[in-house]
Amino acid sequence: MSKPFDVIVIGAGPGGYIAAIRAAQLGKQVACIDEWKNASGGPAPGGTCTNVGCIPSKALLQSSEHFDQAQHHFSDHGISAKEVKMAVAKMLSRKDTVVKQNNDGILYLFKKNKVTFFHGRGSFASKSEAGYEIKVVGQTEESLVAKHIIVATGSSARALPGAPFDEEQILSNDGALRIGAVPKQLALIGSGVIGLEMGSVWRRLGAQVTILEGLPTFLGAVDEQIAKEAKKVFDKQGLNIQLGVKVGDIARSKKGVSVNYTNAKGEPQRLEVDKLIVSIGRVPNTNGLNVEAVGLQLDERGAIVVDADCQTNLPGVWAVGDVVRGPMLAHKAEEEGVAVAERIAGQHGHVDFNLVPWVIYTSPEIAWVGRTEQQLKQDGVAYKAGSFPFLANGRARALGDTTGMVKMLADAHTDEILGVHIMGPQASELIAEATVAMAFKASAEDIARICHAHPSLSESTKEAALAVDKRTLNF
Ligand code: FAD
Ligand code: NAI
Repeated sequence: MSKPFDVIVIGAGPGGYIAAIRAAQLGKQVACIDEWKNASGGPAPGGTCTNVGCIPSKALLQSSEHFDQAQHHFSDHGISAKEVKMAVAKMLSRKDTVVKQNNDGILYLFKKNKVTFFHGRGSFASKSEAGYEIKVVGQTEESLVAKHIIVATGSSARALPGAPFDEEQILSNDGALRIGAVPKQLALIGSGVIGLEMGSVWRRLGAQVTILEGLPTFLGAVDEQIAKEAKKVFDKQGLNIQLGVKVGDIARSKKGVSVNYTNAKGEPQRLEVDKLIVSIGRVPNTNGLNVEAVGLQLDERGAIVVDADCQTNLPGVWAVGDVVRGPMLAHKAEEEGVAVAERIAGQHGHVDFNLVPWVIYTSPEIAWVGRTEQQLKQDGVAYKAGSFPFLANGRARALGDTTGMVKMLADAHTDEILGVHIMGPQASELIAEATVAMAFKASAEDIARICHAHPSLSESTKEAALAVDKRTLNF
């Protein structure tokens, strides 16, 4: 006999565990299945984000930033620290502790909200009057049934053809977060978000870092002006980013990896490195779900086909997060999870895809929400732009971190804010004000007239809003 539930969620990453909690809050009997194992084989809910993504990468970014500060910037404050050393093993074990705190937090939240957790692999078995039967294979086998299924199985790193991940020399995001000693030479393929964040971690710790990017432009999704400034900053930091390359054969040796490629001029090149991180995007996890059993439709990339409300081709089957279209971001997955749970409960959950902020956690951080200047031009929208450099912000000077700017784009006729682009200290936090303002359809004038605390980095957002009307006060 199958165990009956109102809702079964497959996957306990940010999309799945949040959907499960929201559905339980709304009075549903919820099961959540996840197969991730910790080092001792126990459950490790939280998905890519918690185990090998957002959380551990930010832990390492923080540790390496402290190291960089101690080595190069403490002296500006009169602090002398001789022989600053990084114990990589300690840094990694701290990261593992942070991950475990998050895993345990999710298990606690499941208990608190009465979500029944199953540790194992879930797959479709059949469809009947009672709903969809889901088989769970873990230490034991279970059969569950529900009328509503939420698939939140996430994504995995894409490998280069002919260079499978061994997580020793050729690393995905997983191995990249477990490198046991600072490599002398590190190469990354792909100068996207992972390339820049992981490249920054190991550069700060002393590795010579080369990033090989296939496209001729740097950070194509970012506002061009910000991307250009960012490239200059990363070059100065010593990240060797080569654009417009064509990666060829990759060979493993006992000592490391050799990467053959042609550079932007078409000249053949060869890199010998200790470790290679491949960060060229991710593929949706739909293998092993046995979608054929129920006829769940996938697209040519293997992603589950959904409409704007995350409804699949099957009534009662929903899918959220990295396994469907749209940006592969934890907060996008969470918002979709909440919206789906609310729809199952008869409410009208909704995600505004125009207001999903992005953050790249390099130093300086890069964050944006809404449209870029190049998109507005392409869309033929008349706009006004205003920007304010952190160099002219008192708090940034006091912090000793004046790189970058806040840039605001507003409709030329209505003054409604259409996009905000930030490169600089705490950009990840500053972008929230812009997102809230845009959600309330604020004009640049609205932000310009709101009292911002002094001295704070957020004054730069106010000044950028003033700059839209060419009336900055401090620049
Ligand atoms: P996932 O988090 O991938 O979770 C899916 C879960 O489903 C996993 O636990 C998996 O084990 C489980 N699963 C899969 N198939 C089955 C099955 N058949 N049965 C049972 N369980 C199954 N995003 C951000 O917003 N901010 C960041 O700073 C950020 N940093 C990142 C850093 C790195 C290095 C990486 C790789 C990603 C990062 N991301 C970040 C992206 C973010 O991790 C993903 O967008 C997010 O995890 C997607 O959530 P999800 O719930 O869709 O899937
Ligand atoms: P990405 O899509 O950000 O970047 C991949 C890069 O690799 C692109 O610039 C692409 O042009 C390049 N590329 C693709 N194939 C190539 C090839 N054969 N040779 C050379 N270059 C090639 O993907 P990435 O960095 O792997 O990250 C995956 C996703 O994870 C991100 O898109 C993002 O959604 C998420 N993520 C989010 C973070 C955040 O929010 N801070 C941090 C890390 C990951």
